[in-house]
Amino acid sequence: MGCLICCTTALIISLSLLYAYAKYRLSYWSRRGVKSPPTHVLFGNFKDCITLKKSPSDVMREIYNSVDPDEPYVGFYIFHKPMLLMRDRELIKQMMIKDFDVFPNRRFGSGSERDSVGLDSILSMKQPRWRYVRTKLTPVLTGQKLKAMIPLMLECGKFMTDFIEKLPVDETGRSKWEVKDIGGRYSTNVLASLAFGVNINSFDEKETAFWKNGTTIFNGFMRGIVFIILFFIPDWDFLVAPIIKKPANYLRKIFWESMNAREKLELERGDMIDSMLALKNGEQNPLYKFEDDNLLAHPTSFYIAGFEASATALAFTLYNLARHPEHQDTLYNAIQTELSGKEFTEDLINKLPFLDSVITESLRLHPPLPVIDRIATRNYELPDTGLTIEKGVSVYISINAFNQDPKYFSDPQNFIPLRAKMEDKKFYENLAFGIGPRSCIGQRLAMLIEKIALIAIVSNYTMSLLPREENTLNNSAIHVFTYVVDGLHVRFEKRN
Ligand code: HEM
Repeated sequence: MGCLICCTTALIISLSLLYAYAKYRLSYWSRRGVKSPPTHVLFGNFKDCITLKKSPSDVMREIYNSVDPDEPYVGFYIFHKPMLLMRDRELIKQMMIKDFDVFPNRRFGSGSERDSVGLDSILSMKQPRWRYVRTKLTPVLTGQKLKAMIPLMLECGKFMTDFIEKLPVDETGRSKWEVKDIGGRYSTNVLASLAFGVNINSFDEKETAFWKNGTTIFNGFMRGIVFIILFFIPDWDFLVAPIIKKPANYLRKIFWESMNAREKLELERGDMIDSMLALKNGEQNPLYKFEDDNLLAHPTSFYIAGFEASATALAFTLYNLARHPEHQDTLYNAIQTELSGKEFTEDLINKLPFLDSVITESLRLHPPLPVIDRIATRNYELPDTGLTIEKGVSVYISINAFNQDPKYFSDPQNFIPLRAKMEDKKFYENLAFGIGPRSCIGQRLAMLIEKIALIAIVSNYTMSLLPREENTLNNSAIHVFTYVVDGLHVRFEKRN
């Protein structure tokens, strides 16, 4: 009996001490005068995410909206780890652009150098290796290189319109399809062609191996959890490393077949394989060698970063256009005026500012990657706030919450492509491609991928939505990326 009382007392004391310690850790921000929403004693502010009730981006959006509109930041906790969510545009610019040297790294992947394909690519690399690799990869996507890629992308656009053409039509002459599926197959074709040098047609059921391999990287419940761990609890990445490696085996085979064949034939195709061969055969730096899996890591990271984001971007742009037939007409007329009968060039494509506005506005409303982060590499005094961000603290930006903040965008829930013209230019900045020197390296390519697809579709079809009940947006998928659980269903009708 005495022993039982002793054990119970010890247990109560231990639990009380743990509770007091947790509470102390969870007062990190209040001790610094930073507002933060109420916390759970174990999970901090990430309970709904850890228990898979809400996506991380929804949780971050709620944290963003939990304070007064003029708060420049809000503190929060993942378990007991303090993080800062930025809300003020000028401070975001200051940190991400001007003081980039303090915030060059992401939390993503936690800097593991175990697996160069999955976890040690440009996406997760830390300084100084990141700077070296980024400098080497930037020339892969120059204007000149993109120019050579346009015919390859046009081919992929053709596969896509051929697919839409063959869809069964109903009695009203319309066909219908889930457009994330169209976007996924199209962006697979583009990235397989540009990054891996293989010409495939994922719209043809006999050629879907690449696409299926890609979807195993992103789709499914387990994959959602893998990405949540990599983005938000990267110290646990050892748990998911084996799952990440699997799709890489397929890509490794394709990549080296392309590299070897092209080197042997001394053939240039205008894609990224040309650039990878140049990097392989160029001078090497002890900091990072372009060899073996280190080489494969780059097309793979372009593919991982580009495939899902481009597919989601295209799907939402088609969806938004289908909701707004008036913008389809404007776009169609602009395409006819500028492009009809001419050979496609980047210059010509860029002569369609309305197309640019449509895509940018859709990305504002539905950013495919809705959360980005950086880690402070040293103590940093946040200008004009009196707050010091301590070394090691992660700073987050909720792109979707920021992009729908009425402080920065008037009538933020509505799709208004001409917002750029209507509002002061600076109000048009949205963070869909991130910000600063570490923003999306593929932004220009991504815009071309989207534009080529949209020109092909809008020139040939009008789009409309199915009756509302079949198309309610349900964003609550458990994933880091923007996901629509039930898909986005659009109807296509051939233009006369
Ligand atoms: C509409 C399509 C796309 C969107 C919305 C998008 C968005 C983003 C965002 C938000 C980031 C993080 C930026 C930051 O942390 O500040 C990023 C990084 C990146 N994106 Fe994209 N992306 C798209 C397409 C592409 C494509 C096609 C590629 C292929 C080249 C690509 C390659 C990358 C890479 C390699 C990074 C990491 C850059 C670094 O850490 O230096 N993205 N992207």
